[in-house]
Amino acid sequence: MANIPHLFFAFLATLLLSNCGTVKITKAPFGKTSDGQAVDIYTLSNPGGMEAKITNYGGIVTQLHVPDNKGKPGDVVLGYDKLASYIEASPYFGCITGRYANRIAKGRFTIEGTEYKLATNNGDNHLHGGDVGLDKKVWTVKEVQGVGRAGIELSYTSPDGEEGYPGNLNCKVTYWLTVQNELEIQYEATTDKATHINLTHHSYFNLAGAGSGDILNHEVEILADKFVPTDAGNIPLGDLASVKGTPFDFLTPHTVGERIGQEDQQLKVGKGYDHNWVINPTGKGLELAARVTEKNSGRVMEVLTDQPGIQFYTGNFLDGSNVGKGGKIYKHRNAFCLETQKFPDSPNNPSYPSSLLEPGQTYRHMCVYRFTTK
Ligand code: BGC
Repeated sequence: MANIPHLFFAFLATLLLSNCGTVKITKAPFGKTSDGQAVDIYTLSNPGGMEAKITNYGGIVTQLHVPDNKGKPGDVVLGYDKLASYIEASPYFGCITGRYANRIAKGRFTIEGTEYKLATNNGDNHLHGGDVGLDKKVWTVKEVQGVGRAGIELSYTSPDGEEGYPGNLNCKVTYWLTVQNELEIQYEATTDKATHINLTHHSYFNLAGAGSGDILNHEVEILADKFVPTDAGNIPLGDLASVKGTPFDFLTPHTVGERIGQEDQQLKVGKGYDHNWVINPTGKGLELAARVTEKNSGRVMEVLTDQPGIQFYTGNFLDGSNVGKGGKIYKHRNAFCLETQKFPDSPNNPSYPSSLLEPGQTYRHMCVYRFTTK
């Protein structure tokens, strides 16, 4: 008798789950790197009409199909059709970015009296892990299943000294597609020497569809009272600034284009929005950091994370030189990135949340891109 309620709930749970359907995974070859490593592409699809294509070269999300408010799917990320194009030149389309996403001033940091010199691949500064960052590595893949979700777990060990960073860094990044139209990314890393780490995901989104024009009419909310002002090399000045009374206040919704052309010193140095916002902590662990709405398609994307910052970049450096999927040309401000992360140059700013990872510790980071319509 005691087991009847239990059985009933188990039956109900199974029924509910089967109603939600499952997330499917398929795999196909995607070509070879110049040194002959075979690369695959995985397709994750759910019953809600979402489909993600992800390659183990750089963990790049090459396609992300999301339904609009009429149920019609559209690809909302910029990218290329072929692996060779990613290898040739990519402004970090859809990749896993690291070991340190964003910039480190002069490519230098000091840990316990030892100075480490990293590649300076962005003027005098270090950007997105250096010359050959995690975005250009072939990752090992394991397919994974969970309740109402399926995904791929990508692993890569960055050897001690790679791009100048100390420590053998074991990285694991899992992309999940859920039945609730979420792309969830879980990051984990361990090291055998103290090092700095800041991983992120670098999709260039256009919720009206990749290659459909600029994102100036997208409406943006960022739940942050403060942001990180920078110099013209995008290096933090140090102190955090209040968004109040500035074009950086997205506490209430504003379109990207509304204030981007204003006379503002920070918009000038960023050539538009290219800054890290300090997410208001509510203590929930996974915070809602940002919400973007595209009115014509009705697509809404929410970004949730446990990280302290989010880089909002409005594709200011896109200049039409990238011929993307289906021959579409990506021009100035044709996409935006929302990258959950620590603040830029944290290794040289002791007052920022620390990016130091020591042996015995585990770096963890969670990011959810959640899609709905209205
Ligand atoms: C940075 C931009 C940079 C872009 C591509 C973004 O994360 O904030 O400054 O141009 O990545 O590298």
